[in-house]
Amino acid sequence: MSATPSNVGPKAGTVAVQAAGKSVELPILSPTLGNDCVDIGKLPKETGLFTYDPGFTATASCKSAITYIDGDEGVLLYRGYPIDQLAKESSFLEVAYLLMNGELPDARQMGEFDHDVAHHTMLHEAFKNFLGGFRHDAHPMAMLVGMIGSMASFYHNDLDYDDPEERRMAAIRMIAKVPTIAAACYRHSMGWPLRFPRNNLPYVDRFLHMMFEVPSEPLVLNPVAAKALDLLFILHADHEQNASTSTVRLVGSTGANPYACIASGVAALWGPAHGGANEAVLKMLAEIGTAKNVQSAIDRAKDKESGFRLMGFGHRVYKNFDPRAKIIREMCHKVLEELGIDDPLLEVAMRLEEAALKDDYFVQRKLYPNVDFYSGIIYKALKIPTEMFTVMFAIARTAGWMAHWLEQQTDPEFKIGRPRQIYTGSGIRDYMAVDKR
Ligand code: ACO
Repeated sequence: MSATPSNVGPKAGTVAVQAAGKSVELPILSPTLGNDCVDIGKLPKETGLFTYDPGFTATASCKSAITYIDGDEGVLLYRGYPIDQLAKESSFLEVAYLLMNGELPDARQMGEFDHDVAHHTMLHEAFKNFLGGFRHDAHPMAMLVGMIGSMASFYHNDLDYDDPEERRMAAIRMIAKVPTIAAACYRHSMGWPLRFPRNNLPYVDRFLHMMFEVPSEPLVLNPVAAKALDLLFILHADHEQNASTSTVRLVGSTGANPYACIASGVAALWGPAHGGANEAVLKMLAEIGTAKNVQSAIDRAKDKESGFRLMGFGHRVYKNFDPRAKIIREMCHKVLEELGIDDPLLEVAMRLEEAALKDDYFVQRKLYPNVDFYSGIIYKALKIPTEMFTVMFAIARTAGWMAHWLEQQTDPEFKIGRPRQIYTGSGIRDYMAVDKR
């Protein structure tokens, strides 16, 4: 495992802050790539001042060596490797190894990793009782949060966080079992019997078998579908300190069980401003229906009173383009063509993208299609139901979440995450008995 360095790069100098009649020199930290950061650690002690940054738009919460994003240039690197190279050459499982370990595996290391993941895919039989308690129409993300959280009850007492091998096993178990749980959630909603994982299959093929194979006939898997899903998993595997990863780290900072940490990450991912956007995009495209309704959708998205946003557009970090969206867009055309699918929603999506990219409102605000804009159309082509889209994202992001959890455990600056606030409530006042109020 690679540990986070305690100090990054050469110090770029200091910045002087004048406050409370004092001058404080705050160090500037230089990362390997990206913006310098002012280390404000001693500000409260020296001046009594805190800093205010709602939504953490300008605040680094940790040092991390896993993923780098340059939002202005549209760059995304996993452990230094550009996403387009990994998308072209690698596989999801190799990317998961890379994220966790910091380096690409050699053939022996990859073989062992593949073997370890394949041999931890099964669930304890008691999971079935837990799953059976959900209504058949429960949202699969609700089931996923609960099912992953419940893993903490199966692997709690025997986990020693100080042992690197135990930590590695927690990551292996998670990457191995989340697809089994995800498929089980889908089958519960369909009323189908659960399928056991077939360990002789590659990771993505195994998942597709668990999802779609029925007892009455064997599943003939289309290699185009498996390849497309593997690629989507690579693109979704990590994205540095996004809302769900930050949630995993915040929960992890309390020393909570890693399964509880990942369950919290799944919950954070569910929201439509984050991973839930892929489901929302498809619903939006279906509502728009045909290319002739595109302009009115654009007009509605520009009208702040409407409360409607173009789902799959905009990103907190990417203010040029999302490099994943570019790859997915190309893949979308290829997959639909190779699977022989003529989906009218693709036409609506292309017209919507075209119209938005020409519109001043979107141009001025640097709103471009994000990773979720086209992914839903591909999932649909792979016959994955809409409610399962965010679950797909969660399977892939589990690799990133676990890599961050592992990194956090060896961070020399590890401490509980505990933000400050600007209190806006009442001043101090005395309690009054109910008959006097
Ligand atoms: N449609 C219309 N207007 C938008 C959109 C959109 N999709 N996104 C942002 N805007 C506008 C805002 O109204 C705001 O306008 P203003 O300056 O006139 O007030 C401006 O663009 C900036 O938007 P913010 O919400 O301040 O940007 P922020 O960085 O906080 O939000 C977010 C980013 C949440 C992704 C936002 O763009 C959004 O809601 N997009 C749609 C949901 C989506 O696709 N989420 C997936 C993100 S990718 C991922 O999580 C995997």
